[in-house]
Amino acid sequence: MTMSTYLDTNSGALTAAETLREHGHRLIDQMADYLATVDERPVSTAHAPGELARRFAAPLPREGRPADEVWDDVWENVVRDAIHFAHPMYMGHQVAPPLPHAVLADALASLLNQSLAVWEMSPTGTVVEAQVTRWLVSAAGFPATAEGTLVSGGSVANLTGLLAAREARFPGSWTDGVARTPDAERAVLLVSGHSHYSVERTAGLMGLGSEAVVSVPDRGGKMDPAALHDALRTLKREGRIPFAVSATAGSTATGLFDPLDEVADVCAAEGVWMHVDGAHGASFLLSDPHRHLVRGIERADSIAWDPHKMLWMPMSTGAVLVRDGRHLNAAFRQKAPYLFHARPGEDRSWDAGRMTLQCSRRFDALKLWVSLQHYGADHFAGLLETTVRTTQSLHARLAAAPDFEPEHAPESNILCFRHLPARGDDFQAELRRRYNESGAGWITTTVLDDRSVLRVTLMNPHTTNEHLDLLLDGLREVGRGIT
Ligand SMILES: Cc1ncc(COP(=O)(O)O)c(C=O)c1O
Repeated sequence: MTMSTYLDTNSGALTAAETLREHGHRLIDQMADYLATVDERPVSTAHAPGELARRFAAPLPREGRPADEVWDDVWENVVRDAIHFAHPMYMGHQVAPPLPHAVLADALASLLNQSLAVWEMSPTGTVVEAQVTRWLVSAAGFPATAEGTLVSGGSVANLTGLLAAREARFPGSWTDGVARTPDAERAVLLVSGHSHYSVERTAGLMGLGSEAVVSVPDRGGKMDPAALHDALRTLKREGRIPFAVSATAGSTATGLFDPLDEVADVCAAEGVWMHVDGAHGASFLLSDPHRHLVRGIERADSIAWDPHKMLWMPMSTGAVLVRDGRHLNAAFRQKAPYLFHARPGEDRSWDAGRMTLQCSRRFDALKLWVSLQHYGADHFAGLLETTVRTTQSLHARLAAAPDFEPEHAPESNILCFRHLPARGDDFQAELRRRYNESGAGWITTTVLDDRSVLRVTLMNPHTTNEHLDLLLDGLREVGRGIT
């Protein structure tokens, strides 16, 4: 038995290489057919979770069954009732229909299975990731002292950036613990009123307690820099120590951008670390017409940036960038002689595991590297601009329609609105539920100023004005059944 047959003992006489070739060709054909016809499917399932769970509620299989049978099962029971992000009527959360070369690169990354924990487990993977990170660092306008790493997404990027901030302001809190670090018990984290929940979660994770999070009042859905200034001064007078301000570039609910340049002025004047949660909006750096929205991001101390949102990568691909790389290196201060090895003659370790929560980590950089090489950054800017234009077009339609009301002018590809035949919160939520269940489209809801509203994120560059008309007509039709 060769190593290859050993790896695939249950595929009859096929070696692992033969299995990949035979089943891979078939699978790729099926995936291509899926993409070509995805708009003929309901956007998502109408089944409840319990119903779907019953399909899979079999005992642990002790013996295998033929691969074709299993794959047929996947297409019938998994894919059919999946939510289809490539469908142009999908307008829900910030999940991308991934670019095809990124999907292919992700499959290769699985095959190579490089572990980005340490250089010796990913000799080319580590340096490709370092290069991809350098591209992001330079797009952000950070100096050569900056360092960054890919992480699982915006939540871990926010945690990592803010851990670096904590260690910078309260050195020793990593080793001694917050309770025994002078002044750390007085730490406060200031956040945008509309920040993603993961930012507040970092305070709990860091042992500061979620009570240490202060929300800065908004003006027009954006952090108000004057209110930030007041809050910082009041907190200092009360003997608290604001160690970081987390501004949002592209808020989850509305896609609006905090005024980063003005926030940077305040942070500089008050000597506070500025973190930017750009999970959604940092990609606007690549677009000439939209870059002004993130002006001032280059003055931040740390940035969270999710290529798995507005760079159309498959999950997971997040990034954290820190202006002074020494702070990122200090965020997790550990020795692991079984893993991290200094290499003679090198002043800086290549082991990315020093800078991340994760140890084993996928070679996510490959799909981004392949995509940036093949498509070029301008192509990404074009995709982004298309989705923003379509969102503006939706805004114009909503403003012109007597039975819809936009909640705000869009700055990005996120927009909140209400359907007006009935104004109650229950109506909007029920409308969304029934519309999504119809399979004709898929949107989300949120709460703005204590009111329930409908919300879309146009992630699919193939969503056109025709689809927007279908959306509004679809909502009207479903709405008539409720009122
Ligand atoms: C502004 C913002 N920050 C952070 C996150 C969390 O990102 P992830 O789901 O990649 O952890 C999101 C996700 O929706 C987001 O919109």
